[in-house]
Amino acid sequence: MKTDRLSPAMNQALNQQLTIEAEAAQTYLSYAAWADDQGYAGISNFLFRHAHEERNHMMKFLRYILDRGSKVTIQAVSAPGADPTSIQDCFNKVFQQEVSNSESIHRIVKQSFEEQDWATWNFLQWFVKEQVEEETLALNLLDKIKIAGGEGAADEALLELNAELGKMPDEAHNASSATEQHPS
Ligand code: FEO
Repeated sequence: MKTDRLSPAMNQALNQQLTIEAEAAQTYLSYAAWADDQGYAGISNFLFRHAHEERNHMMKFLRYILDRGSKVTIQAVSAPGADPTSIQDCFNKVFQQEVSNSESIHRIVKQSFEEQDWATWNFLQWFVKEQVEEETLALNLLDKIKIAGGEGAADEALLELNAELGKMPDEAHNASSATEQHPS
């Protein structure tokens, strides 16, 4: 009896997305380490917490594939790109990564629609909503650095931004609660 409830193509797409989320976590980790090294502990803390959120996204895909009786394939994770050249460059890269991730999620939504795999379509709606939040968050970061003076931001403005981001509420809560339904 066939117990795998995902098509081979959907299994591949979801496993690929699992890897993309893991890569996003690695990228946030590298930016967080870079920010700390530059002396921006608050921005670093924000980015570390976001790396945790990406890892929760990865776990959510992993759990779903298993719940559908399908096979999880853990792949190698690509190394993050070069360090940012400035806080503005860092936030630009964060925004680009989130847009790229949204596009990837949307491709799988389209695939689930074409396959009439309504369980996966429904599962992915959480991510569609989450990506709107992630893009908004990244846009807010860009607004903040713009207000601070962009590439020419004064040290005082950057330190203020650093303090503000360090105190921001934990963004990982939403993704954590999504995976807590499945304690290991
Ligand atoms: Fe998992 Fe930032 O999207």
